[in-house]
Amino acid sequence: MAKRIRIKDLLLNPPIGTTVHVKGWVRTKRGNKNVAFIAINDGSTIQNVQAVADLENFDDEIIRHVTTGACISVQGELVQSQGKGQSVELLVSELEILGAANPEEYPLQPKKHSLEFLREIAHLRPRTSTFGAMLRIRHNMIFAVHKFFHEKGFYNLHTPIITGSDAEGAGEMFRVTTLDFLNPPKTEAGKVDFSRDFFGRETNLTVSGQLEGELGALALSDIYTFGPTFRAENSNTSRHLAEFWMIEPEMAFYDLTDNMDLAEEFLKYLVKYALENCGEDLEFLNNRLIDEEKNLKQEERTGMTLLERLQFVIGSDFERITYTEAIDILRNSKPNKKKRFKYLIDNWGVDLQSEHERFLVEKHFNKPVILYNYPKDIKAFYMRQNDDNKTVCAMDILFPGIGEIVGGSQREERYEKLKTRLDEMDIPQESMWWYLETRKFGTAPHSGFGLGFERLMIFITGLKNIRDVIPFPRTPGNAEF
Ligand code: 4AD
Ligand code: MG
Repeated sequence: MAKRIRIKDLLLNPPIGTTVHVKGWVRTKRGNKNVAFIAINDGSTIQNVQAVADLENFDDEIIRHVTTGACISVQGELVQSQGKGQSVELLVSELEILGAANPEEYPLQPKKHSLEFLREIAHLRPRTSTFGAMLRIRHNMIFAVHKFFHEKGFYNLHTPIITGSDAEGAGEMFRVTTLDFLNPPKTEAGKVDFSRDFFGRETNLTVSGQLEGELGALALSDIYTFGPTFRAENSNTSRHLAEFWMIEPEMAFYDLTDNMDLAEEFLKYLVKYALENCGEDLEFLNNRLIDEEKNLKQEERTGMTLLERLQFVIGSDFERITYTEAIDILRNSKPNKKKRFKYLIDNWGVDLQSEHERFLVEKHFNKPVILYNYPKDIKAFYMRQNDDNKTVCAMDILFPGIGEIVGGSQREERYEKLKTRLDEMDIPQESMWWYLETRKFGTAPHSGFGLGFERLMIFITGLKNIRDVIPFPRTPGNAEF
């Protein structure tokens, strides 16, 4: 047997006239009494290779097992294709069934399945064109993240996954424990005695690598983390996961404007990288979306194709406005006056809902928007306070179809101000002693942000539900696969 070649490599530079050996999963089998046309995909590319088997040369028994989903190995001469739809085909001389897939039971059929159905078979959905495309793009985006920061001289820092602190102060954490919860050790006051737990204290899965990231930036200047992040928020939306991946750069000597500049450059870099390196997969997803939108009402359509939207983001300057300006726009907007928002905008100080964010991006400005200087009461303790005593140096980037894709801030680097803020927010200073010490010893202005990797993937792939841009989604009530 010849050495097996990946379909991607085979099609890149087809060795016409030579014998090639391909392995993969059958997508379809067509044909007649004399010949079978078998489309094989090995996931290395969205493209299939067409294998042509002259049935005279093979046992019925073998051919019978060539069904959608079966894994096969074929060898034969590669020739220019006679038929339409492919440039080359493989004339099979040897055919082996590596793993049959009983067609009565195999759930993936060569037709369009709904994304909802595919979520129920997340163990097999990587074998579909849509998920193959998504997974290859996801890989390319991971690579591009590291490439961007490496080229900029940032150092990657692994921050812990098990932590004792609540970085966002929102209390949405998953506990990590080895205590016997039928019979936990108790303190004299009758509470669970976490000093006897594995780490000698209460621990959780991290909600953000930022606090430790700051420790890195205040030594290495420019760092980034890219790790799994866990939030036990019970929000069953198309944009929330309980386990997601977040990229968090942290930069010493950056102010809020530097921070916004970096975030905008980063997002454009990633989109451009996808366009330049994931062409076939994006084209497939682009056409998929066009098909899907045909079934939508006019007002539900996005008005741009996926590829146009990606190009558009690279080419536009993100609009930068303060929270206060945004509130004015929203307060005077049509949906607010006509009471079409679910949450009406009335007073300065309210948190924005995704309906408001999407109005600003999709209706008012029609491009990505960076909102900055938020009220301090709706933001985390670590953000730098502005001189107005009302707002903090926060910034959120809002994207079409998504809402918030990035959240960041300039950090409070002033020791006294930070201590006061911890007290105001009832966060015990003892629990943050190590964080506070960075402000006590050689503090420096610094900033950073977090990009939700799956929110980015929603934007790049045009897949609308966050459950479809991660291989194995974790959401309330779902950790099956
Ligand atoms: O705005 P967030 O909560 O910010 C932080 O965690 C900061 N520590 C970041 C920093 O400054 N270093 O989260 C950042 C981003 C959001 O903008 C969103 O894209 C994503 O993380 N995100 C989620 N993605 C999926 N599922 C969830 N439940 C998410 N929560 C936040
Ligand atoms: Mg946020």
